[in-house]
Amino acid sequence: MGNNILVTGGAGFIGSNFLRDRLFNASDDIFVNVDAITYAGNLENLKEISEKENYIFEKANIEDELKIEDICKKYKINGIINFAAESHVDRSISNSKPFINTNVLGTLNLLEISRKLEIENYLQVSTDEVYGSLGETGAFTENSQIQPNSPYSASKASADHLVHSFGHTYGMNVKITRCSNNYGPYQFPEKLIPLMINNALENKDLPVYGDGKNVRDWLYVSDHCDAIWEVFNNGSSGEVYNIGGNCEKQNIEIVELLLEMLDKPKSLIKYVKDRPGHDERYAIDNKKITSELNWEPKINFTDGIKMTLDWYLQNKSWSDNVRSGAYLDFYKKWYGGLEK
Ligand code: NAD
Ligand code: DAU
Repeated sequence: MGNNILVTGGAGFIGSNFLRDRLFNASDDIFVNVDAITYAGNLENLKEISEKENYIFEKANIEDELKIEDICKKYKINGIINFAAESHVDRSISNSKPFINTNVLGTLNLLEISRKLEIENYLQVSTDEVYGSLGETGAFTENSQIQPNSPYSASKASADHLVHSFGHTYGMNVKITRCSNNYGPYQFPEKLIPLMINNALENKDLPVYGDGKNVRDWLYVSDHCDAIWEVFNNGSSGEVYNIGGNCEKQNIEIVELLLEMLDKPKSLIKYVKDRPGHDERYAIDNKKITSELNWEPKINFTDGIKMTLDWYLQNKSWSDNVRSGAYLDFYKKWYGGLEK
């Protein structure tokens, strides 16, 4: 018999890829997607699976404890995967409160509900950013110190501490995954790769922060989704699993590659003021998840970036539709403030 799994934030980038991947594979599980549909949530992302009989959508905010509890009771939920979050570092620098409300208090609600209803399995989707920043060498392991530098990463680290504490104190079956930068279809075009693709297509400036030499580790989104599923089903209780692509790149390398692939001139690149508190470098030591759970990335960067670019080229109207209202106000204010 399958499980009844509450997936929060399933209308966002990674959550929608996760649900699509799971629901296209034959599964006995029922997936209940709870999403508040913020600026980053979009039910369009789920159109291919919305009619599946083992998929249910409930519009709700994870900050609303009573409503989420009712949903869990109604669908006899026995597992939770928490993707829901405010996820953009720059927005957290501009206005941190929503990050605390969703990422910390929302997570606390899910944990309290799990405790009360004795939900058997809880997975927190976290981030490598909780470890802070690396110098030129080394990689984050699960034992690296937690040293978050932005309001976003501080909120995710706080949530991780709460998750750990509920496992430790109440003996709950909780797991935490910490992944590096994802890319792929349906990523909100505020993040580096889709932002640069869209700006290049529109012959607009490509705003590169600082000297463009900050390093991120990149993982194609479906590989992250497979890893989460593996940890949810087979990971050990109370454990943290790092997830990464062994694919370090400087931001400027990615921007130049995209311009080349799109046959656009490098003169579109515009160096702007640096992100305040900008983390220098992230790199992931993957040994734990590869050796204990046999997971490893399947999509290399050359294939992944091509698939991503093709998707944005074929779905320009998706980007045009999501870049509206409050997002455009943020964009103008943020990038206006970075003019040199
Ligand atoms: P996203 O911003 O694309 O999507 C977030 C989703 O959560 C949206 O659908 C939004 O509507 C929903 N949401 C926000 N606040 C909510 C609330 N209070 N109640 C219910 N729903 C709410 O984010 P993403 O990039 O898909 O990230 C998903 C998760 O993965 C986040 O927890 C993030 O911290 C983590 N993560 C992201 C990356 C990455 O590279 N994008 C890497 C590692 C970890
Ligand atoms: O590492 C995992 C994290 O990766 C996730 O937890 C976050 O949710 C996700 O947003 C991402 O955070 P980053 O800050 O690394 O991603 P972002 O796409 O915002 O930026 C990637 C790099 O590109 C970073 O060094 C900043 C730089 N950048 C970004 C933007 C939006 C620019 O130079 N110009 C830009 O306009």
